[in-house]
Amino acid sequence: MKKRILALLMAGAMALGLAACSNGGDDKTGDDVTTYKVGVAIYEYNDNFMTLYRNEIDRYFKEKETDKVKYEVTFQDGKSDPATQTNQIDTFITQQMDVIICNLVQTSTAEAVIDKIVAANIPLVLINREPLGETDESYPGIVDNPKVCYVGADARQSGTYQGEIVAALDNKGDMNGDGVVKYVMVVGDPENPDAQYRTEYSIKALTDAGIKTECLVENIGNWQTDKGQEITNSALTQHGSEIDVVFCNNDGMALGAAAAIKANNRTVGQDILLLGVDALDDCVEMVKNGEMTGTVLNDHIGQSHKAVDVAIELLEGKDIQNYYWVDYVKVDANYVNK
Ligand code: GAL
Repeated sequence: MKKRILALLMAGAMALGLAACSNGGDDKTGDDVTTYKVGVAIYEYNDNFMTLYRNEIDRYFKEKETDKVKYEVTFQDGKSDPATQTNQIDTFITQQMDVIICNLVQTSTAEAVIDKIVAANIPLVLINREPLGETDESYPGIVDNPKVCYVGADARQSGTYQGEIVAALDNKGDMNGDGVVKYVMVVGDPENPDAQYRTEYSIKALTDAGIKTECLVENIGNWQTDKGQEITNSALTQHGSEIDVVFCNNDGMALGAAAAIKANNRTVGQDILLLGVDALDDCVEMVKNGEMTGTVLNDHIGQSHKAVDVAIELLEGKDIQNYYWVDYVKVDANYVNK
């Protein structure tokens, strides 16, 4: 009896051994599942655009899963605080993430963040907030590291499109006919290149078209709707019908500006113009019905897909580029009524 049991056990062990061999040499036919750990650090959850972007990263990683490859994605909210984000990155490193996607709270922390992630030998995809080098595509921590890249959109293009939408109007933005386009600039966050470039290039597009401009108010709204409303409201109280255009660095703030414009009995398209960036659904609707002059599509689908695709290439050990760019699209009345 004992012998029979021993024989059965041995046969069982051999069968297992054989099975292990046939699986071991060939990943494709084996039933092993590889699970990659992905850490995603977002600068702030309370941001309309980055919420769309974050949700699409999550959804698209799920879409990319197969029977053999799974992605365990951990998101963190930096709460607009660089120290909080640094702690989150440290935790990602301790947790030995296989790849990190990072939307910096502040570009001034880029060097420190990149250095520690590179030192831990973890590939890194920076998104949305570009650390700027001396020239384009030249940030040292990015160009010097084959496993670090930036995925974004060139904010100069979005600013230029805002200005071009105004310059293309029959009155070239001079709503009250005083010969100068007087404007309010609602700025996202002065440390963010998207805000800097949009502020500069929207006006540059007007100047390049030969239009005289004057800034009446420039104020910081931190991308937030309530701030956009507050800034626009006090500008309208102070400058009234002198104001021709309200430029907002994003749609979140433009939604607030639109409320302030209504509350001050002004009408977009008749006595004032309103521009944003992002093409949030609500704002595209407003462009359609004339409540906004225009916005610019900040393609969160294209950017999140590119970020995830590159992260997966890095996980697969493939070579990548250091910079990837996704185009903006001009969204004005012509575009939405097409
Ligand atoms: C911009 C976007 C803003 C805000 C910002 C955060 O690209 O237009 O709405 O999300 O990124 O960095």
